[in-house]
Amino acid sequence: MNSQEIRQRFLKFFQEQGHKAVPSSSLVPTDPSVLLTTAGMQQFKPYFVGQKDPLADFGSKNTVSVQKSFRTSDIDEVGDETHLTFFEMLGNFSFGGYFKKEAIHYGYEFITKEMGLTIDYVSVFEGDSEVPADTESEEIWRSLGITKIERFGRKDNFWGPTGAEGPCGPTTEIYVNGVEVWNIVFNEYYMKPDKTLEPLKQKGVDTGMGLDRLAVMVQGKKNVFETDLLEPILKILPESMDSRHKRIIADHLRASVFLLADGVMPSNKDRGYILRRLLRRAFTYEHIYKFSPQTGESLIIEVIKKYGDFYPELQNQKNNIIDIYFGEWQGFKSALERGLKVLEKENSIDAEKAFNFYETYGLPYDIIKEIAGVKAESLTLEGFDEEFKKHQEISRAGAEKKFGGHGMVEGDLTALDAAEMKVKTGLHTVTHLLNAALHKVLGEEVSQRGSDITAERTRFDFVFNRKLTDEEIKKVEDLVNEAISANYPVKIETMPLEDAKKSGALYFYKGNFPEMVKVYSFGPSADSGSPFSREICGGPHVSSTGEIVGKFRIIKEESSSAGIRRIRATVE
Ligand code: SER
Repeated sequence: MNSQEIRQRFLKFFQEQGHKAVPSSSLVPTDPSVLLTTAGMQQFKPYFVGQKDPLADFGSKNTVSVQKSFRTSDIDEVGDETHLTFFEMLGNFSFGGYFKKEAIHYGYEFITKEMGLTIDYVSVFEGDSEVPADTESEEIWRSLGITKIERFGRKDNFWGPTGAEGPCGPTTEIYVNGVEVWNIVFNEYYMKPDKTLEPLKQKGVDTGMGLDRLAVMVQGKKNVFETDLLEPILKILPESMDSRHKRIIADHLRASVFLLADGVMPSNKDRGYILRRLLRRAFTYEHIYKFSPQTGESLIIEVIKKYGDFYPELQNQKNNIIDIYFGEWQGFKSALERGLKVLEKENSIDAEKAFNFYETYGLPYDIIKEIAGVKAESLTLEGFDEEFKKHQEISRAGAEKKFGGHGMVEGDLTALDAAEMKVKTGLHTVTHLLNAALHKVLGEEVSQRGSDITAERTRFDFVFNRKLTDEEIKKVEDLVNEAISANYPVKIETMPLEDAKKSGALYFYKGNFPEMVKVYSFGPSADSGSPFSREICGGPHVSSTGEIVGKFRIIKEESSSAGIRRIRATVE
């Protein structure tokens, strides 16, 4: 059974039991307290805590998904037989629908009947001073003929929460061939930031089963790198290569493809830094083995081929992904060469020196640790992180100030008060006009990678691999100013995402579009077929471009990271 069949059978099995299949959410979560999506339950947090109504949104209290997930905690372990950074999580969920009996029965049936596997044993929560032992699950397992039942504590059989607070509860886990395959969580509590537990009003079920790991068992393989998910990717690398290094490249490039497709850009902060680390580690091995960057490109293409049918964002973003991969490689290769040479001459590397290498040459911690070998024996990740934190304190202080104030939220915008909202709304529309003008002047390969609007200016990032000429900047400015003078009315349409894409609307994919999206067009009303600007967006916008008062001007055009240009513009 190949992995695509496993995904389909999982979805079908639960759909037949009245679950609504919900697409994977983006690896970039909406919850600001978490950097990346680590579990299937994350997108459902509001339903577990009763903030949102599953019946209204899904027509059912029960859902099923195949979720793109990423865990940084395992990054340094990758290369052995079990650890991965990116993986897919199969999960079924219930928000006040069913509870322990059904969840355990479903798990049992799917594993033994649908997948034809034998359950070795299961585990349940043993109980502690706050949460009672889960004897109910134990009984249910026994009624199914499972007699080998282990009891574990908080560390092993209690989940959550993701982020600073959230739903959590005891778990029961299914083991096959001595390995945990499925984690079933009974969300009965809400953990507050001070770690105290409050009973949830409504009980919920959250389950998670890693597809790679399940595929190992179903396909009778020895490890996660031998299944049909990763084997074709590893095969591209020469047989003689060290298998640990091969696995690192395959895992890291697969993860990078998924992060890039969800709009993460390599940078020195947060998830951008995680992505950069993955790419640079892959580049380092490519360099050591004297591969050309085209080898990595072939792996990326294979990942897109392998996963593109199930995750169409990979296909849609294919050119961007490859462009950014090469851009990042361009930016890193000479520093890597120099850095490796200097590193060779060092006698010993402590945390401070390692951080200097990172700052000067961009060499990530794990590369320094690995390449320096015995010379870096005393170097630890904690030590390196300490140095890293010292340098980040200043920028963090700035960020807190920015988010500290109260404010209002409308569509995609936040503002301190109505007056600021008005200014930002104008600049938001200007950002659409700018995006449209860039497409007209530079060609269709321009692709947005981000934007940021303050009361003073808009900032717009897009894929383009050279500096704009003065003439191009002037043309873009003129086009935007003409669109403002023409006083184009807005046309707002709500339509299915696919129709919106087909209609030629521009969009910036952050991986979180709902099924029905809003499309904002600005142009002569008679000309709705080909307006000046047409874009998928959450708003808000002005009702006609004449409301934008002033002259549009590009005040800065620069490179923001490899292969990406950044424009700052004002209306004054
Ligand atoms: N949230 C649990 C996990 O990720 C079950 O989905 O393991």
